[in-house]
Amino acid sequence: MDSIRIRGGRPLKGIIPISGAKNAALPLMTACLLTGETLTLANLPHLVDITTMANLLMSLGVSLHMKSNERGDGCGGRILDLSTPMITDTTAHYDLVRKMRASILVLGPVLARTGQARVSLPGGCAIGARPVDLHLKALEQMGASISIEGGYVDARVEGRLKGAHLVFPQVTVTGTENLLMAATLADGETIIDNAAREPEVSDLAHCLVAMGAEIEGIGSSRLVVQGKESLHGATYSVLPDRIEAGSYAVAAAITRGSVLLQHADATQMSALLKVLTAAGVVVSVQEDGILVSADTAPIRGVDVMTEPHPGFPTDMQAQVMALFATAEGASMVTETIFENRFMHVPELKRMGADINIHNGSAIVRGVPRLSGAPVMATDLRASMSLVLAGLAAEGETTVTRVYHLDRGYERLEQKLAACGAEIERVRG
Ligand code: UD1
Repeated sequence: MDSIRIRGGRPLKGIIPISGAKNAALPLMTACLLTGETLTLANLPHLVDITTMANLLMSLGVSLHMKSNERGDGCGGRILDLSTPMITDTTAHYDLVRKMRASILVLGPVLARTGQARVSLPGGCAIGARPVDLHLKALEQMGASISIEGGYVDARVEGRLKGAHLVFPQVTVTGTENLLMAATLADGETIIDNAAREPEVSDLAHCLVAMGAEIEGIGSSRLVVQGKESLHGATYSVLPDRIEAGSYAVAAAITRGSVLLQHADATQMSALLKVLTAAGVVVSVQEDGILVSADTAPIRGVDVMTEPHPGFPTDMQAQVMALFATAEGASMVTETIFENRFMHVPELKRMGADINIHNGSAIVRGVPRLSGAPVMATDLRASMSLVLAGLAAEGETTVTRVYHLDRGYERLEQKLAACGAEIERVRG
């Protein structure tokens, strides 16, 4: 199994190009199931999760054609044609779904297009139980009959799904995306209240509009969809990854360096940029990105609470905790979205961090220096927090279970090494 070896203590300086967003690309790819015409997606990141989704879509009858890189810098931005003249299999099998929870995103589109869908239940994951009950209840409200048998969700509808007034009792990102896609082919109007407002949801909505869908309220917590009998093909470019950009912003801050996050969009990152600014990081929005500098003033601890967008993203919680572990003073980091998302804490403590967990909050008291250690993490963002801690630590850090990082960070070692980090992948 590969690992990442880091020699910490070097301030990062340079430019990091930000790739297309994984969490936007995945639902956008499943949108191809809604039409018989070709959907062309540009700025797709090179990630294991994208390959997993491609394999799942192919198993349902989608044909894929990868074109060359969009930009000549070898930094990603692939263009992919996805065509589904016919959905040839309406079952998303366990062996593919178990690799990635976002596979549940095929449920809404396949059901809406064919009147039936069988999708393996994704099951638990390292950061919590993560049920899909809200997706299923909302589809039932649209007229689907749903049963769960042998670990599979079996959904059926006579004719088309019916427009309905859906009110999510809790904000769910993939739930909103699944229902939004289903609603575009439903009979009549669907209102989704308490919809997720994450930029990735809006990206999907804009792509659906380009495919002929009628959606009002994009970016708000009320989405109103007028269902159509069919959608058509479109060409759409995936938005930049705010979580990748945020992670590298923390890399600049934790190493007390200065990095330009090329292509990053500050408007989608306000909560994080506010926290970084309060911590003493200098953030300046430029024409083609965001310059993040921490080479002048000391970094102070700041209190953070995760919330649905536009609040502070849970996907950045582990990374800022690594930063605060090296800051002056104390911070309280409160996780409200997932019940088990402090798996990085014991590993950060092994590197010398002073962190205590009380229920859903972690009290982080900054220490002058972390020390390198062999560490491993159980999920994507937790793994990144260990890489970040390693970049700041004295001595050598080895992060194992690199497959988590490969799910969500394109060319991680190359991007960091280009800014002066001493980092390498050790093949194992
Ligand atoms: C998405 C993101 C993930 C991010 C998360 C929260 C993708 C592919 N993944 O995950 O990176 O961390 O949003 O911003 O976009 N819940 C239920 N029942 C449901 C659905 C959700 O109880 O049917 C709960 C979850 O357990 C969790 C909360 O709602 O506690 C939010 O989860 P949700 O927004 O659905 O997360 P995902 O869409 O899976």
